[in-house]
Amino acid sequence: MESLEKKKTIFSGIQPSGILTLGNYLGAIKNWVKLQDEYHCYYCVVDMHAITVRQDPAELRKRTLDVAAIYMASGIDPKKSVIYVQSHVPQHAELCWILNCYTYLGELSRMTQYKDKAAKHQDNLNSGLFTYPVLMAADILLYQTDLVPVGSDQKQHVEITRDIAIRFNRLYGGVFTIPEPYIGQSGARIMSLQEPESKMSKSDPNPNGYISIIDDPDTICRKIKRAVTDSDGEIRLDAEKKPGITNLLGIYAACCEISPKQAEEEFIGKNYGLLKEKVSEAVIGRLAPLQEKFKQIRSEKGYLEDILHENAQTAQQAAIRTLRKVHKKIGFVAK
Ligand code: TYM
Repeated sequence: MESLEKKKTIFSGIQPSGILTLGNYLGAIKNWVKLQDEYHCYYCVVDMHAITVRQDPAELRKRTLDVAAIYMASGIDPKKSVIYVQSHVPQHAELCWILNCYTYLGELSRMTQYKDKAAKHQDNLNSGLFTYPVLMAADILLYQTDLVPVGSDQKQHVEITRDIAIRFNRLYGGVFTIPEPYIGQSGARIMSLQEPESKMSKSDPNPNGYISIIDDPDTICRKIKRAVTDSDGEIRLDAEKKPGITNLLGIYAACCEISPKQAEEEFIGKNYGLLKEKVSEAVIGRLAPLQEKFKQIRSEKGYLEDILHENAQTAQQAAIRTLRKVHKKIGFVAK
């Protein structure tokens, strides 16, 4: 217990808003697994974030369990890390409300994810979409988090979390730990296979744009074979002029635990066909064992639900400690 308390804390989460992609795996989960021995980790399935966009209730329920099972199948051990569902710990919503009162409309309107999502969901511009980063700040600050391992698209959200925490601490003294983002050297931004100028996303309507974590080997090979490249035939890193090839090298590097530069050197003088073959092999090599475990965990529903229930209780104890401190500082009367 003592050594556990000395460890620094990690918090991260994924929305169960679609089938997870290779981007989620390489940008986030892969790093979570590596960090779990050194840190005290909370890995959350953020279902409350997912409802900022309309979800089918039965699908949301299923996907929430799928995401938790993917965490475990990837190697996150629920005995070492706290794997749980956000809505099982109501303190997230409670702290979110309080932090809403310390966050400015101007700073929320500068969030690029909000601007992107607002453009895509004109028919449902709900206020949850706008205050989404405040809920994310609550997630992180509730556990006195030191480090937040995410893909590069979430960096701005970790920055606003820091701003809110610093503002709160200035007003009331040291309440929150100020978190740092942790972004891996490869895989931090995996791009779409069809439009390599845009991020690979689980909400892409074109399934050829993304590789799902549970795609079978044939599907993976087919999608990579169809990946958009260019016509100059040279394999080198150049995100601006050669986004497709740069993305394939990035995927290869992240799967093989090497840097993109090392991947580039490995393929100097080779052709695109060979690159695609090797990328497919590397992706299948990473995902096949995970898929086996996923099927097994998902077939034992009671087991997964028991783990989530137990872990939510552990998370809640830590969350209550922070919230008590916050209540006292801002002047709420103790219960
Ligand atoms: P979400 O669900 O969009 O994505 C989950 C994680 O996957 C990373 N990611 C990617 N990394 C590389 N390439 C990609 N194409 C790619 N697509 C997604 C994301 O950067 C993220 O790390 N707001 C968050 C969820 C969240 C959260 C939190 C994260 C809620 N509360 C607290 C950290 C801490 C989100 O929408 O992630």
